[in-house]
Amino acid sequence: MRIVEKKKEMQRISEELRKEGKIIGFVPTMGYLHEGHLSLVDIARKNSDVVVVSIFVNPTQFGPNEDYEEYPRDLERDKKLLEERGCDILFYPSVEEMYPPGFRTEVHVKEWSEVYCGASRPGHFKGVTTVVMKLFHIVKPHLAVFGEKDFQQLRIIERMVDDMDMDIKIIPGKIIREKDGLAMSSRNTYLSPDERKRATVLYRALVYARERIKEMENLDELKKEMREMIEREGGEVDYIVFIDPVTLEERKEKKSPMRCLLAVRMGKARLIDNMEIL
Ligand code: PAF
Repeated sequence: MRIVEKKKEMQRISEELRKEGKIIGFVPTMGYLHEGHLSLVDIARKNSDVVVVSIFVNPTQFGPNEDYEEYPRDLERDKKLLEERGCDILFYPSVEEMYPPGFRTEVHVKEWSEVYCGASRPGHFKGVTTVVMKLFHIVKPHLAVFGEKDFQQLRIIERMVDDMDMDIKIIPGKIIREKDGLAMSSRNTYLSPDERKRATVLYRALVYARERIKEMENLDELKKEMREMIEREGGEVDYIVFIDPVTLEERKEKKSPMRCLLAVRMGKARLIDNMEIL
């Protein structure tokens, strides 16, 4: 696996690959890789000739009181996992390489960036769309894979690519769960053993909603039941919302298709999860 730290070098390599007619598949990550990320690498492998993965803990998508400094990092382990999984190129830039002095441009997907996770994390999605746009210009992929675990992020990226007429196919990857249902996330490492057990309540609440919705009309009532389930396990609900997965609009009434998104604070960790429930 080739490791590239400089933007210009990455652009040159991608340009060469494109000239040779190679399809470039890209998986952007913040590292500390788990099976969720690696499943996205598998999807990229199946759909392209050359797989590029980026590892960059992007400071601009963290708020001032968020976990940028503590965000888990383990480059040596990540390299090994990527090699085993058949990644061809690891793009691993520094913060200075990505944001040199004088940097002042932002990419913003209006409205969708301000709701749900965007409401509790002001500026977060602007940081995401800005860095993803930059990474797309550096890696020049034909396709890029994003996990459905960050469903709002996935839809915002798809919107940006569409709105800006970018010639990149976005492929979604299914949520990968631990055996007990907890969605895999680098932030699960923040959980104490006891919180880790209780954190399965996010998944249990979603499965409960998927069953209960069959016999229930009132979404507020269902939300209340889910909230109670989560609070009983010591979780602090940031939001629970039922949405139209296409427009991201909140559904006030039961209507298919419908996805439930939730964010819950469990000890030090802010966890998110979602599921198609109708
Ligand atoms: O989902 C992530 O890990 C990040 O938000 C991303 C897409 C790599 C941008 O920094």
